[in-house]
Amino acid sequence: MAESMKGLKRTCRCTELSAEHIGQTVTVMGWVQKSRNKGGIVFVDLRDRSGIIQLIFEESNVGTEGFEKAAKLRSEFVVAVTGEVTERSGAVNENLKTGDIEVVAKDIRILSESETPPFPIEENSKTKDELRLKYRYLDLRRPDLQRNLILRSQVATLTRQFLAEEGFLEIETPILNKSTPEGARDYLVPSRVHPGSFYALPQSPQLFKQLLMCSGYDRYFQIAKCFRDEDLRADRQPEFTQIDMELSFVDVDDVIDVNERLLQKMFRLIDVEVPLPIPRMTWQEAMDRYGSDKPDTRFGMELKDVTEVVKGCGFGVFTGAIENGGSVRGINAKGQGAMPRKKIDKLVGFAKDFGAKGLAYLCIQEDGTYKSSFAKFMTEEEMNALVKAMEGESGDLLLFAADKNKVVWDVLGNLRLELARQMDLLDKNVYKFLWVTEFPLLEFNEELGRYQAMHHPFTMPMEEDLPFLDSDPGRVRAQAYDIVLNGTEIGGGSIRIHQNDIQEKMFEALGFTKEAAYSQFGFLLDAFRFGVPPHAGLAYGLDRLVMLMTKEDSIREVIAFPKVKDASCLMTEAPNVVDPVQLEELGIEITPQEQDGDKE
Ligand code: AMO
Ligand code: AMP
Repeated sequence: MAESMKGLKRTCRCTELSAEHIGQTVTVMGWVQKSRNKGGIVFVDLRDRSGIIQLIFEESNVGTEGFEKAAKLRSEFVVAVTGEVTERSGAVNENLKTGDIEVVAKDIRILSESETPPFPIEENSKTKDELRLKYRYLDLRRPDLQRNLILRSQVATLTRQFLAEEGFLEIETPILNKSTPEGARDYLVPSRVHPGSFYALPQSPQLFKQLLMCSGYDRYFQIAKCFRDEDLRADRQPEFTQIDMELSFVDVDDVIDVNERLLQKMFRLIDVEVPLPIPRMTWQEAMDRYGSDKPDTRFGMELKDVTEVVKGCGFGVFTGAIENGGSVRGINAKGQGAMPRKKIDKLVGFAKDFGAKGLAYLCIQEDGTYKSSFAKFMTEEEMNALVKAMEGESGDLLLFAADKNKVVWDVLGNLRLELARQMDLLDKNVYKFLWVTEFPLLEFNEELGRYQAMHHPFTMPMEEDLPFLDSDPGRVRAQAYDIVLNGTEIGGGSIRIHQNDIQEKMFEALGFTKEAAYSQFGFLLDAFRFGVPPHAGLAYGLDRLVMLMTKEDSIREVIAFPKVKDASCLMTEAPNVVDPVQLEELGIEITPQEQDGDKE
């Protein structure tokens, strides 16, 4: 029978106690981690969000009734215990913060009993993810998840404090919005009052924060929920949280400055000192050196362009790619020259998954001779020149991709990461930040047969590239920047267009008619007619940031109630089928195929 806590007050959390409190009477409340009945004495580990304290129950102290209660305690019972802090009678437990003390119970109340939980509540759980997520409220009791969520809360608090001190105002923006098809797929919410019309949940507060700049608020921030109906991955959830900001009358350096100081403060929470300034690299350089716009700079293994070296060589795969306007590039996996053929074949398969037609390899053996998939097509001089260009030494493995630049970057960029995983080069204790700047403004979408904004349609082109917006849109660079940490894009932003004529040109380049642009973004274009300050901003993925700070592999581990791969919640079973009356009110009819489609 559950008892009341009437008349009792918790005096502290379990691990707020230390040897300093010896002799004091305290009341602790929490969950039974485990209890051991050793005949006349019951030992209980009591857990709350701060950690664990050992409780001792003896009939002489707690009375007969109290001892009987203690004897029936099971894991996850919730109890309130009053007792005296004493020096630990047995051996000191070095693994516990409170390992040198214990609480000798004088009184106990069982506030709630518990059934046997479906999995043990302990650190480094081996429990299957499905079960953990079905009983997420139990999973969240585990110390690792508690540490993650506590850090997440600290990051949010620090962000609020820091930005407030820097003159930012926290302003909320709406969740029920108008759908704008640029970007990812929207989540739609049907309107009851306007049958057939839908709201869209925000993919980000982008347009509203720009409007707030038009309204003169100057510096805005928000810790904002965003929704994107895209395929889930380890670093992607359908709803996630941004630390979102926008500033007026600033340039790129101003935005970067305030954010570098914010990042530095955040990482002090985990005792990591971020050296400032954070290095910057243009998109072009990032692609050329790392084959990625979010390079992991914890290790080298940079790409080398050997197009010039192999231009006239006898290997048709190389020369063919060059003739087609592509390039030949390679990476040097240092010390991997003895990799067995089977493993190399796996790398070739990996490269093919990223669109490669093949992967040419060259092992430099310990005796300096070559073992290569293309030696028979090349002269010795050509091979030597290639090895030299790659700075190859005995024992190295050189890997080459020949294709259009985009394919070569993608293949080698991903191969570089795969090799780093295999070679154990990805140290989670090392934090390498990088700003990637000067992204292309537009990218050509083959499916749509038109250009799309790489960031979003409000990103300002580099001024010197403005003349190409009509003539050669693909070569226009944007005043956009991403902040990358250990190969993950943790944030991104840009200087915005604040001139109507440039915005119109941008819409033209994106293939929008004036009417189409107006019907989607008319309110923003109208606002721009009434005095708009130059402005810029940035948004972090808070989940990704905390994932890296906690050294987790998935953002699920830093979100209290995350979704799984098919965007469902295993605990609440959302999304669910709704009452036909609700649908009728909304004027919505479900056809059976659509329902099947949802379950894909
Ligand atoms: P962007 O689309 O780059 O920019 O988003 C900003 C950051 O949000 C994080 N992020 C995600 N995190 C988890 N799950 C997702 N599905 C997901 N999608 C994005 C990333 C990303 O860097 N309005 C602009 C920002 C601006 O220009 O100010 C924007 O939303 O870490
Ligand atoms: P083949 O002549 O097709 O047997 O190819 C010889 C070698 O070149 C093999 O190791 C292939 O994997 C590799 N190869 C084929 N196409 C490419 C390509 N586009 N880029 C790099 N290597 C390739």
